[in-house]
Amino acid sequence: MPRRAESPVLPPAPGALPGLGHVLPLLRAPLPFITSLSSLGDVVKVRIAHMPAYVVTDPELVRRVLVSSDHDFTQGRVYEKLAQFLGEGVGTTSGRKHRRLRRLIQPAFHRDRIAEYADTMRAAAESTIADWRPGQEISVDSAMNDMALTAVTACLFATEMTPQAAAEFRESILTLFHGAVLRTLLPTAWEKLPTPGNRRYRRAITVANRVIDETITTYRAPGQRRNDMLTLLLDSRDDDGDALTDQQIRDQVITFLFAGVETTGATVAWALHEVGRHPEAEKRLHEELDTVLGGRPPTWQDLCALPYTSRVVTETLRLHAPWLILRRTLHPVRLGDVTLPEGAEVVYSPYALQRDPRHFADPELFDPDRWLPERDGAGPRGAFVPFGAGVHKCIGDAFALTEITIALAVICSRWRMRARTDVPVREVAAATTHPKGLTMTAEPRFP
Ligand code: HEM
Repeated sequence: MPRRAESPVLPPAPGALPGLGHVLPLLRAPLPFITSLSSLGDVVKVRIAHMPAYVVTDPELVRRVLVSSDHDFTQGRVYEKLAQFLGEGVGTTSGRKHRRLRRLIQPAFHRDRIAEYADTMRAAAESTIADWRPGQEISVDSAMNDMALTAVTACLFATEMTPQAAAEFRESILTLFHGAVLRTLLPTAWEKLPTPGNRRYRRAITVANRVIDETITTYRAPGQRRNDMLTLLLDSRDDDGDALTDQQIRDQVITFLFAGVETTGATVAWALHEVGRHPEAEKRLHEELDTVLGGRPPTWQDLCALPYTSRVVTETLRLHAPWLILRRTLHPVRLGDVTLPEGAEVVYSPYALQRDPRHFADPELFDPDRWLPERDGAGPRGAFVPFGAGVHKCIGDAFALTEITIALAVICSRWRMRARTDVPVREVAAATTHPKGLTMTAEPRFP
């Protein structure tokens, strides 16, 4: 694309309103808005009320922000807001503090552990479909979100919470999910208003913290050893032999839930949606599952024998990725033709990059075979980043891919999911993009 002439002061993208900047398109139609920006340049300035933010649309510059020049950036505004309830979670910290936390939580995401979690993930998927009846209409978005919450919670805490604690916890986590993105876009003063939503949000923080604290206390009591992520966090030690404090563990647990539930749940829901409206993909997926599994439940060992299922997952992650990730400059930083001031919010959108026709042929087409090795469909470096890149790259990527593939295998081995044509599916941008209103009819494959 032709580069913009060197300009110390970048004009904002068209459509900014006095006082509001681009808040309206960001709230009303965030996905078309963010996707439209790549035609304006490699770095595009938008305004969130009075705050400027610089959207990086060029994959090579995105890699500079995330990887080669990551020392020039810290986590940005979203993370500041998230820190209200994620505290010092690994995702909200930067620099040395982040490196230490990342090393301490790594054992919980080790490949051998994920192989063990696979059975727990399968159980979560099986319990989700256990009550489905032929012809039943399933609210796929919320069912998959619930399944993902059950899976992550069960991997975290092998010991079941009391039903009351589990219900309270689930409710509070869902409230936190919904409040967090709104808080990023609206002015800080709004958060202090005594609105019912703000009160619910604050109450949810208190409840989530209490439930986790009570669970940690139970785990610290002498007695039975458990085989789960919380135990690995409690046992982990840094180079000086120091452990995570209870507060740090609580912050990591909430971070895993925040980062790992809506993202995976929405991806499984989108995969069912895409498979349901692409008969050829559905046929090949069913054939592979029937051939490899022959009706038995999937295991960790089966995953590498399911290449088509895996391509369906990758293609779903390309089309339905997180839409907004922020960083902040620590000092003036040159990015392409533009010099960003110190403290500037820098944004990139995996969603927009992965639908950019400059990087992906026929970007709106659901085509799992674009990921065949001979097709070389991954686009240039930095263009396919559903899990981010660099030091903050998703630590749960292998966890997520295992969970999504197993869930898809469990569901599609038994059920054909039929889209309802009379209920529109809305692509909603929250912490990730999810299919609001996705209702599908479950038809047994082997009546
Ligand atoms: C489809 C599912 C998922 C997607 C698309 C996804 C995406 C991402 C992305 C884009 C980032 C980088 C954010 C940044 O650069 O600031 C990230 C970070 C993170 N993710 Fe995931 N994620 C998924 C699942 C999970 C799961 C299942 C877990 C845990 C159980 C998890 C835990 C985390 C954590 C802890 C971080 C912060 C890492 C750090 O800052 O060092 N994610 N994720």
